[in-house]
Amino acid sequence: MHRSTSRAALLSSALAALLSCCPVIASAAEQAARPVPAAGGKAIERGRYLVRIAGCNDCHTPAYAERGGAVPEKEWLTGSPVGFRGPWGTTYAANLRLTMAALSEDDWVRAAHGKQYRPPMPWFALRDMQAADLRAIYRFIRHLGPAGEPAPAFVGPGGTPGGPVVQFPG
Ligand code: HEC
Repeated sequence: MHRSTSRAALLSSALAALLSCCPVIASAAEQAARPVPAAGGKAIERGRYLVRIAGCNDCHTPAYAERGGAVPEKEWLTGSPVGFRGPWGTTYAANLRLTMAALSEDDWVRAAHGKQYRPPMPWFALRDMQAADLRAIYRFIRHLGPAGEPAPAFVGPGGTPGGPVVQFPG
């Protein structure tokens, strides 16, 4: 019993060492520990500007549109509890502060250029963005740091969302 326990301990520390050495298979928590880009860089400034003008806050920051954008930056992109309900089911604008903390910069660029999210997420805007702009957005959001809770989970077309929703026709 004692022997197998210590073998298990050995195995798990070997696994931990392996995980910390290899970014490809690093866990979300380890990825969250990636160094945050230094504040004040040009990319961070550009990322702030792009987030502002591309409208990411309109959905991903609680009450941003309703308050005419008068929401402190520390609350930006923490996700919204208001659902978007339509023929696709009910979607929630994700907490991007947590999304980015779990992704490497390269993973983010790949996802942004390749993934189709459900409505009303304008995934086609991410698809059409230049990689340098996506990298700037990533750096800005990582600079803000992880914060808040995950947004509610997607509810399928047959389900009934628990909280408030914006209802789309169809
Ligand atoms: C009109 C509302 C709206 C706008 C504007 C918007 N999003 Fe979204 N976003 C959503 C919704 C809703 C989802 C969830 C989609 C789903 O469930 O498939 C989402 C999902 C995402 C995801 C996936 C997150 C994850 O953890 O899976 C990313 C990344 C994202 N948005 C980034 C952005 C960025 C960057 C911008 C600005 C360029 C932006 N969004 C603008 C509504 C919006």
